[in-house]
Amino acid sequence: MNAVEEFTAIGPLLPDDMRLYIREEIDSTNDEVRRLAEAGAADGAVVIANRQTSGRGRRGAAWVCPPGEALAFSVLARPAEPAGLWPRLALAAGLAVAEALELHGVTAGIKWPNDVWIDGRKICGVLVESGGHHVVIGIGVNVNVAEFPAELADSATSLWLETGEPVDRAGVFAEILRRLDVRRHQIGVDFPLLLDAVRSRCVLTGRRIRLMSADGLREGFCEGIGTGGELLLSVDGRLERILQADEVRVVE
Ligand code: BTN
Repeated sequence: MNAVEEFTAIGPLLPDDMRLYIREEIDSTNDEVRRLAEAGAADGAVVIANRQTSGRGRRGAAWVCPPGEALAFSVLARPAEPAGLWPRLALAAGLAVAEALELHGVTAGIKWPNDVWIDGRKICGVLVESGGHHVVIGIGVNVNVAEFPAELADSATSLWLETGEPVDRAGVFAEILRRLDVRRHQIGVDFPLLLDAVRSRCVLTGRRIRLMSADGLREGFCEGIGTGGELLLSVDGRLERILQADEVRVVE
């Protein structure tokens, strides 16, 4: 089955305000959504590709996923909320994925701000990129990846590896989009609803962590997530509010 056949079938399951574009191969679904946005596409456009030739992760890293096994897709948002709230969409995306995966009986955690983890291993990464009037929410999920290269085997997992059987990739995709369609609209007045659900899945809370923030390397005890979605880090008895960070690692 090619990607068009596989994903067209879920059309009736998709939220009304989402319009699906299916590509067998593309450079990056984030780039394709950006191009659609620049051509005037409406909020809710979704691009899914079976294969990305230049898929990317955060910090410019390559994002490689085996065709036919993982999900690689991007959603166009034109939020009504002020741009200062748009970074919250990363939390919304991770939460939507976690909620969809949980339907398969796994316990999915959110590694603030962008990743979904199962049992200490990454199953999903989120790359949110903003333009002047739009946001691209890029999501990569390891669904039916049966084996990872040796260098990733300890740090990555897939739904197949966790459940012991292959799952319906298109069904997982449809469920993520349904959840995302709810959660992406909770970055404004309804943010407490989103926050509660993220906090209860935060894998960093109560752990000693190290991260690279705008102010440099920080190490401390994670106290949880603050009311604005920021990470609360206790460093030498002083509480710091981390708005953005890279390379967040649990150190014990
Ligand atoms: C990360 O963990 O570094 C983020 C990974 C994001 C990967 C997805 S796959 C779909 C979309 N298109 C891309 O080029 N990247 C994102």
